[in-house]
Amino acid sequence: MPTSKFFSFLSLSLSLLFPLGTHAQFGTTPTNLTTGFVNFANGPKQVTWFYNQNNLVSYEGDIIFGTEEEFNEALINITYTSGPGELPVVTKRRSYPPSLDRIDVRSNSIHPHSSNLWPGGQVFYRYFDDDTEKRISSIVEAAKNIWKDAIPCLTFSKVANDNNIHGSNGIVTIRVNEKPLNMCQASQIGFHTNSLWMLLDDPGCGLREVTHEWGHLLGLIHELKRPDAPALDPFICSNVRGYPFGKATTAEADAECCGLPQKCPLPPGDHCCGLACQFTVECGDYNSQDDGPNGGTFDFNSIMLYRKREFGDGKVTLPNSPEELPFPPSSEDFNRIRELYGCLPPKCPVGCNPASGANTCSFPTAQDCVFPSPHISNPRAACACRAGFKATAPGISDTDTTKQWRLPADEGNFRVWVTQGVACDTLCDVSTGVDSCKEVVELPADCLHN
Ligand SMILES: *[C@@H]1O[C@H](CO)[C@@H](O)[C@H](O)[C@H]1NC(C)=O
Ligand SMILES: *[C@@H]1O[C@H](CO)[C@@H](O)[C@H](O)[C@H]1NC(C)=O
Repeated sequence: MPTSKFFSFLSLSLSLLFPLGTHAQFGTTPTNLTTGFVNFANGPKQVTWFYNQNNLVSYEGDIIFGTEEEFNEALINITYTSGPGELPVVTKRRSYPPSLDRIDVRSNSIHPHSSNLWPGGQVFYRYFDDDTEKRISSIVEAAKNIWKDAIPCLTFSKVANDNNIHGSNGIVTIRVNEKPLNMCQASQIGFHTNSLWMLLDDPGCGLREVTHEWGHLLGLIHELKRPDAPALDPFICSNVRGYPFGKATTAEADAECCGLPQKCPLPPGDHCCGLACQFTVECGDYNSQDDGPNGGTFDFNSIMLYRKREFGDGKVTLPNSPEELPFPPSSEDFNRIRELYGCLPPKCPVGCNPASGANTCSFPTAQDCVFPSPHISNPRAACACRAGFKATAPGISDTDTTKQWRLPADEGNFRVWVTQGVACDTLCDVSTGVDSCKEVVELPADCLHN
């Protein structure tokens, strides 16, 4: 794998092919940065974008919004533009609502049960043409397999290659930049019925970068967008390229362009300019709607981080971030995707110790601590109810798998198992035969072993 050859994908965002070790962030500078409000699935958001080759529009560095047509439908207004010479000599405020009649909404960030998850965890992709496939599929497939191997409930389905420049709704079209952009980019977060893309340099985008891009396509936003990021990894606005963003004074820039205060809820209206918008936290999505702890907190090992000098032209913008992107994805990265697609490992109840006197299985209704499947490796024991009986109510529901559960045991799945100390003296709805006790939740076979 050409991992040694990459440049970071994000630097990517705007980075260049320079020898490794330099931090030339913007070899191919997107001189034409525009900031404004854009409609996303959860409402308008102020972002900074630039126009790509291939008729595509990118924001947040490496995230492709979609085609220019799709973007223009979602654009609300423009609040800032950088001048042609890279320095932001022009700071304009103008209202620019091209077609408010048809506001398109896009996914931005997702959470469990979001409509922007790939239905059934099935991701569709294709290459722009056979030549593209020949050139970059080894790296794209390897990066894909990093996610797939860690998250077996995802499936990736390759469909016939297609060079439609409008892309396809709900299928990721993977393209090579005809002229290297020194960027690796992918479409908006998660599934959407608009065009979806991955746009790569060849050579230039390596396993690390492409794995990050798949992370976006599966549903991960940049770690720095999390509401808890500023407290743990605050950014130095004055080191962001473009600062002071054409403002007369740094005080004005700090007040109007740096997205301060960096906390939720964001103040209404205009609050960031140019590349500083990349650091504005996103409120109301991602971990704030997480079901469980696997959204976690800000993760310094995430492959979705920004690097220490991101958007800084070599200056440190994130003192607490690493110089290079962590690789491979962290366990939290994997767990977030597992959570999104409903494939976290099952929570199995604690077992008991079958040795005489070593457990507290409830006497006399569930006193036997036994292995439901004694021959598998590292079996887990549980307190067995008599067939046809379940845990003694009140207070213990049929679905409380911390107290009682069924298992696909060697003898069948009719028996109820209970945790230590729980009595088992309630007759099941059906109390004889293979259909006994079906009202009690059955745990997967993974819970037969430790
Ligand atoms: C710069 O961006 C504007 C839109 O803000 C676009 O119309 C123009 O074509 C772009 N110019 C270049 C050189 O990319
Ligand atoms: C742009 O649109 C946003 C969202 O509707 C609004 O809050 C903001 O005031 C507008 N800014 C300008 C300059 O029109």
